[in-house]
Amino acid sequence: MTSTTSQPSETFRSDFPILSQEVNGHPLIYFDNAATTQKPRAVLDALMRYYERDNANVHRGIHTLSSRATEAFENARDKVCRYLGARSPNEIIFTRGTTEAVNLVANAWGGTFLKAGDVILLTEMEHHSNLVPWQLVAQRTGARLRFIPVTQSGELDLEKIDTLLNTEVKLMSLTHISNFLGTINPVKELCAKARLVGAVSMVDAAQSAGHMPLDVKEIGCDFLAFSGHKMCAPTGIGVLYGREEVLESTPPWQGGGEMILSVRYENSTYKGAPAKFEAGTPNIAGTIALGAAIDYIQTIGRESIRVHDEGLALSAFAKIANLPHYRPLGPSKSRGGLVSFVHDSIHPHDLTAFCDQKGLALRGGHHCNQPLMRKFGFPSTSRASFYLYNTEAEVDRMIDILEQANHFFK
Ligand SMILES: Cc1ncc(COP(=O)(O)O)c(C=O)c1O
Repeated sequence: MTSTTSQPSETFRSDFPILSQEVNGHPLIYFDNAATTQKPRAVLDALMRYYERDNANVHRGIHTLSSRATEAFENARDKVCRYLGARSPNEIIFTRGTTEAVNLVANAWGGTFLKAGDVILLTEMEHHSNLVPWQLVAQRTGARLRFIPVTQSGELDLEKIDTLLNTEVKLMSLTHISNFLGTINPVKELCAKARLVGAVSMVDAAQSAGHMPLDVKEIGCDFLAFSGHKMCAPTGIGVLYGREEVLESTPPWQGGGEMILSVRYENSTYKGAPAKFEAGTPNIAGTIALGAAIDYIQTIGRESIRVHDEGLALSAFAKIANLPHYRPLGPSKSRGGLVSFVHDSIHPHDLTAFCDQKGLALRGGHHCNQPLMRKFGFPSTSRASFYLYNTEAEVDRMIDILEQANHFFK
């Protein structure tokens, strides 16, 4: 992949048809992977194959196409189960993405078990998806929100953790890797602490699931969520992992077909997990394609991807730090594969538009982290985020473009 490993990322680039194009007369450099990644041919083929050969609704039909679709769909659940190190496929619930998974837990678990005065513990670096659903359920139940602070260097301030994570806390939910700062949080240690005070724990793995090895038993969380589209799969498919005992005691969230055992006019009985949480026709093609994405990632190896992505991020961080007027944010060591940075006078939106003219796709904005941006005093930042097909040469090209921006906006 990069010079730090033996597998050059050039090898994988040809698997991604979209990468071979020019944008505004320049070869595309796609550094917006934290927003969504590109899709390899194997995933596009899986989508096409399903619609060309097997398209039918799952679980309900006894005809051949329906059996094939059901088998491929449930096969994808088994793959996710192994990918996450879950104990059983029954612990894998398909959702639209991380956002829907957090909303499911906030509504189904939170709406049932939280009561006035209980504390929901989050961190100051949560994506809005792992903040707003908890605000909504807190308003409904009378529970209170509490936050683990973030230091100026972009790490969790754990000095007062034993006071923050006390027996008032009924649920703790935190991001594994910050999509704004690239910080990798000590989720295993924090989930262990949550368990000690009897709190349920949830990990937002949107930025980690496709980028590093991850095992739910090792992390020790009760819930974990991720989005397929941030790891080579299509949009509209994601996963909620839930520990079997916790899922058993959690009532359904949405009602409809597929999740019931028996329905009468006045009431119904429900299946167990995961069916209980998957009302209606699921995203069958997307789920099967998520299985193909997992196969693709596994052939490369998540540890290789982690080393590669971190290598690019550390290199970009150091090179941006050396550029006049630019300042990279977050930890300078041991980080996820992304770098946010600010310029002392160019607005991130102007910088992003300038880079786009050179074929470089960055993201400029608040990255769905408005409260933390406000705390740091930035209206927005620019962000470069990397994946398995990006190269050191692309990082150097970005540095060159950022230098050109210094002259252009002078
Ligand atoms: C850390 C984190 N959590 C949650 C989300 C929301 O993911 P989705 O929009 O796919 O539901 C994102 C998306 O950027 C993210 O980076």
